[in-house]
Amino acid sequence: MQNSRLHVSTHPLSGHFLTDLRSTSTTPERYRVLTHRLTSVLALEATAGMDVRDVPVTTPLQETTGHYLAQPIVAVPILRAGLGMLDAITELFPAVSVGYIGLERNEETLQPTEYYFKAPALDGAHVLMIDPMLATGGSAAVAAKLLRNQGAATLSLICVIAAPEGVDKLLSADDGIEIYTASLDDGLNERGYILPGLGDYGDRLFGTELIGTGLVS
Ligand code: PRP
Ligand code: URA
Repeated sequence: MQNSRLHVSTHPLSGHFLTDLRSTSTTPERYRVLTHRLTSVLALEATAGMDVRDVPVTTPLQETTGHYLAQPIVAVPILRAGLGMLDAITELFPAVSVGYIGLERNEETLQPTEYYFKAPALDGAHVLMIDPMLATGGSAAVAAKLLRNQGAATLSLICVIAAPEGVDKLLSADDGIEIYTASLDDGLNERGYILPGLGDYGDRLFGTELIGTGLVS
């Protein structure tokens, strides 16, 4: 699948972190660490083309010109799994503003239901939507619409893995959004899970799949 708005990371570290995120032997504790590290790589790639503005700076030796980012950045995690990616962004961009979108995918219909939305005014900002999974694309398409209505002009999705079905849906639902991901996976199974995938990201990140297994008390 070729599309100029789909950016699949070629950085060797992306595949390295993703391999452990896929593995069933990775614990929730490690999951959070790997999510943080992989998000840092993807966030750098997603912001590499940002405009900068010149600023004067005095080094110990002379005056010169440096640069700062020209646009403010707003990060918007899609709850709940997107929360696991947020710290990496706030660490890289300390001046970031943060909005939140609460969406939950119905397990039968695969349609997202919105339960929370709070975002600052987005006019003039570089907006980074963060959600590890782009599966059917339903959640990301709803989120993108909410953010466009809030004034987002420059909008990207950073996700850990993407299914071709979700990429198609999001790129056709929003004609300007850019997608940054560590992997374009093979497709979806009958339950809307990405293959080969990594399972339910939120459950793995927050340890909720362990409840009832006897592995936690
Ligand atoms: C997951 C994931 C995305 C969504 C992707 O969230 O984090 O938001 O599914 O699926 P889609 O592309 O088919 O819409 P989920 O709804 O499971 O909620 P959670 O993060 O609270 O676990
Ligand atoms: N959400 C997940 O957490 N995993 C998938 O494979 C699809 C949607």
